[in-house]
Amino acid sequence: MVILKIFVTGGSGLLGSKVAELAVEKGYNVYSGYRNQKPEFGKAVKFDLADADSVVRVISEVRPDVIIHSAALTDVDKCEVEKDLAYKINAEGTKAVTEAVKKLNAFLVYVSTDYVFDGERGMYREEDETNPVNYYGYTKLLGEKYCQDFSIARTCVIYGAKPASGKINFVLWLINKLEKGESVRIVTDQYITPTLNTNLAKMLLEIAERKLKGVFHLAGATWVSRFEFAKEIARVFGLDENLITPSKMDEINWAAKRPKDSSLDVSKAVKYLDEKPYEFKKALKELKREIKL
Ligand SMILES: NC(=O)c1ccc[n+]([C@@H]2O[C@H](COP(=O)([O-])OP(=O)(O)OC[C@H]3O[C@@H](n4cnc5c(N)ncnc54)[C@H](OP(=O)(O)O)[C@@H]3O)[C@@H](O)[C@H]2O)c1
Repeated sequence: MVILKIFVTGGSGLLGSKVAELAVEKGYNVYSGYRNQKPEFGKAVKFDLADADSVVRVISEVRPDVIIHSAALTDVDKCEVEKDLAYKINAEGTKAVTEAVKKLNAFLVYVSTDYVFDGERGMYREEDETNPVNYYGYTKLLGEKYCQDFSIARTCVIYGAKPASGKINFVLWLINKLEKGESVRIVTDQYITPTLNTNLAKMLLEIAERKLKGVFHLAGATWVSRFEFAKEIARVFGLDENLITPSKMDEINWAAKRPKDSSLDVSKAVKYLDEKPYEFKKALKELKREIKL
């Protein structure tokens, strides 16, 4: 087996931490990039995507075979308000990563988003036309433009068993609320293909190992409304689903507009990858197992 030297940017994040954890388990030489929260897995490397020189310096020092570029300014509303920062981190930061990767002749997997689509139709395929409705999606799409020679992996609503990068994800937030007997209002008119970080991390590592170029939609295999997603989580975790009440997207005062249906069609991943996108029920079963560990 080839021992890869992997640099995971966003190694403290919800996705990057899982990629680093699984890569360490595989015996790879793993470097975990971060900005504020020290990563749990791999050798921690602090750098700032908003400072292009630091990006190039750090990557040139580590000299990885593969970079999985998962770091981003992921707060969609913050991106809308602090556009310059979002541009610097998500677009220019990604450009700097690609320049460093090209100099080293290394391989890059760029993690992108369902938010490159406008959400008017849903179940998007890799070749479908992009049209972001918010600034976050726009900056991530700019990032994609720099990664055309490599692999671009778009995903959708990630969840996992642990808090990461100082935040809890939707599923942990919901479980916490329901366990306390608090009611929650969840939108019925937003559609997604939610993605377990473990499943996504395995697919990303496979793409990195096989050096598969091009765009891949790597998400969960089940199309669902956020409301149904919440209901199923309640059922799987034995919590009171009656605490979940319906609301509509236009009742929420977000700074950034959200796409209505940003679900991703994962047929290409199903066809080409050994690690297949999980159906929703399988993913939640796996999540429950991981939470109990
Ligand atoms: N979460 C989702 O539902 C979702 C959906 C679609 C696509 N994506 C994409 O998937 C990727 C991973 O998302 P995630 O949810 O795992 O993110 P996350 O938990 O918010 O973590 C973001 C990571 O990026 C790092 N980072 C942020 N600003 C940085 C900077 N200026 N310099 C260096 N590192 C910086 C953070 O470091 P610190 O922890 O040290 O601050 C953290 O490790 C992102 O590219 C995102 O666009 C996410």
